[in-house]
Amino acid sequence: MVNLGVLASGRGSNFQSIIDAIEEGSLRADIKVLITDKPDALAIDRAKRHGIKHIYLNPKEYDSKDAFFEAITEVLLNMQVELVILAGFMRIVGKPLIDAFPYKIMNIHPALLPSFPGLHGQKKAVQYGVKISGCTVHFVDEGIDTGPVIIQAAVPVSDDDTEESLSERILRLEHKIYPEAIRLFEQGRLSIQGRTVKIKSQRAQEAFLINPPIELH
Ligand code: GAR
Repeated sequence: MVNLGVLASGRGSNFQSIIDAIEEGSLRADIKVLITDKPDALAIDRAKRHGIKHIYLNPKEYDSKDAFFEAITEVLLNMQVELVILAGFMRIVGKPLIDAFPYKIMNIHPALLPSFPGLHGQKKAVQYGVKISGCTVHFVDEGIDTGPVIIQAAVPVSDDDTEESLSERILRLEHKIYPEAIRLFEQGRLSIQGRTVKIKSQRAQEAFLINPPIELH
């Protein structure tokens, strides 16, 4: 069992995939709190529907970025959170939070890192013309989407893909790999060597997912 604290800014469909995995019994976790930086984040409705405590913290009410992240850290520590989940949290995480949860903050990014970090990963992939893109769950460090990669999933990109169609295809896989990464953490199977995340007793499907599966000839 692992205590989670989720940070979200918007729709919260990844938050929902984690709730669903817990409720269907495939993930042994307890979501202690949802923290949002937007008062109208759709994620709040999801928390309400599932009886999850939710808190809105207004960044404008703090003197500095550090002060805002100190407040977030205080809430998470008070709630006995063991792993912090960024689920569409559209801010660069401040040092106070990173220092309080070393290698205990996960983020999901809609591209195959280190390609296309930052905002609009799907749009950048379409504009660049890559043939494969996907999503990445990684531990958070002080850089922008630079922390150690935990799990990735790949999708094909076709000539007629738009940002929207690619985003949709990637999102379906985000909803699979995020609960999976948390499951690996909960099972105590993740360790970090250098910048590589090692997965203990790894089965082939656990390091990456390709959808649709590629047939090798
Ligand atoms: C997801 O696609 C997530 O990968 C992305 O925002 C979306 C949030 O959706 N995150 C980033 O781009 C972070 N740089 P959701 O609110 O429905 O989970």
